[in-house]
Amino acid sequence: MLCPLLVLGALAFSLAGAMEIQVPDEPVVALFGRDATLHCAFSPEANFSLNDLSLIWQLTDTKRLVHSFSGGKDQLADQGGGYANRTALFYDQLAQGNVSLLLRRVEISDEGSFTCFVRVSDYSSAAVMLQVAAPYSKPNLNLEPNKNLKPGDLVAVTCHASRGYPEATVLWQDNHGSNLTENVTTSQVANEEGLFDVHSVLQVLVEPSSTYSCLVRNPVLQQETHASVTITGQHLAFPAVALWVTVGLAICVLGLLAALAYVCQKKIRQSCEEEEENAGTEEQDEEGEEPKTALQPLKSVESKEDNEQEID
Ligand SMILES: *[C@@H]1O[C@H](CO)[C@@H](O)[C@H](O)[C@H]1NC(C)=O
Ligand SMILES: *[C@@H]1O[C@H](CO)[C@@H](O)[C@H](O)[C@H]1NC(C)=O
Ligand SMILES: *[C@@H]1O[C@H](CO)[C@@H](O)[C@H](O)[C@H]1NC(C)=O
Ligand SMILES: *[C@@H]1O[C@H](CO)[C@@H](O)[C@H](O)[C@H]1NC(C)=O
Ligand SMILES: *[C@@H]1O[C@H](CO)[C@@H](O)[C@H](O)[C@H]1NC(C)=O
Repeated sequence: MLCPLLVLGALAFSLAGAMEIQVPDEPVVALFGRDATLHCAFSPEANFSLNDLSLIWQLTDTKRLVHSFSGGKDQLADQGGGYANRTALFYDQLAQGNVSLLLRRVEISDEGSFTCFVRVSDYSSAAVMLQVAAPYSKPNLNLEPNKNLKPGDLVAVTCHASRGYPEATVLWQDNHGSNLTENVTTSQVANEEGLFDVHSVLQVLVEPSSTYSCLVRNPVLQQETHASVTITGQHLAFPAVALWVTVGLAICVLGLLAALAYVCQKKIRQSCEEEEENAGTEEQDEEGEEPKTALQPLKSVESKEDNEQEID
């Protein structure tokens, strides 16, 4: 049953007569995993009955059957594997000549050209391009090495974005927004679903306070996602744990200072009382010493700062 129709489909290009089919000129962009509608329509005659319609949707290249409808109902016995339960027509609109195809849960392998073949008394066909797309995830950035970076060190900044389609364009930029094209290695590998994982490595010599941004662009969706890392190189900001340690220590220091102030005040008051009898030189020695010990924790905080790097 299928073969004569396929032959007709092939002939339709040369024999297409009065009947006109409307399909979109531009490729239809469908998001991976979502549903897509491939539009196709003709203008039926006034006496048109659905029983007179033969409709075939097939892959343009391989002629694999995607969906067919004739004798007033779907004819799916010869439907290509992979399309089972994924195709439908807009049945309420067939009588108006709307023979668009609904393709559910679009896969990467669906990308390509589909032919809409229609026969009533006359026949015609036209092709619709399906372009599949998937947005890339926000990139992750990693530094290698990521500890004790000093200006002049060679560092590899790795940018990883996943599950996009089609292949991305990757762009690296510095703090000034200039493109970095040298010493960049980008690879894109398709997973079993056909989605791409992008890895791009930028090798740079660490400069104090430099920012590197990785921009991953999906050319079909015009989608751009980016991430950046700042290598401070010298005075490095520190991670949250160190921040809280610092805050804790700062509170301790403030506490100590408050206690110290309290003690000093007391002593001053004491010394005021004793002033009439004594010169009061001893207290000055003590005041000179105590702030030093109070400052000790601050120093250890500073050395901690130097050891950590910021990875943004
Ligand atoms: C419908 O009408 C056209 C003329 O307007 C005629 O050529 C065609 O054969 C008719 N089709 C059917 C199924 O009656
Ligand atoms: C399609 O749906 C039918 C009925 O729900 C089910 O029996 C069949 O396994 C499905 N086929 C595929 C390929 O998912
Ligand atoms: C055909 O039906 C689809 C789904 O309802 C709709 O999006 C499309 O605009 C219709 N096409 C025409 C030509 O009416
Ligand atoms: C960087 O490269 C992109 C893509 O090649 C280009 O569109 C952009 O204008 C360039 N930017 C600069 C500042 O050169
Ligand atoms: C690229 O790497 C080479 C060798 O590591 C280095 O000499 C050169 O300066 C680098 N280029 C840029 C633009 O960083």
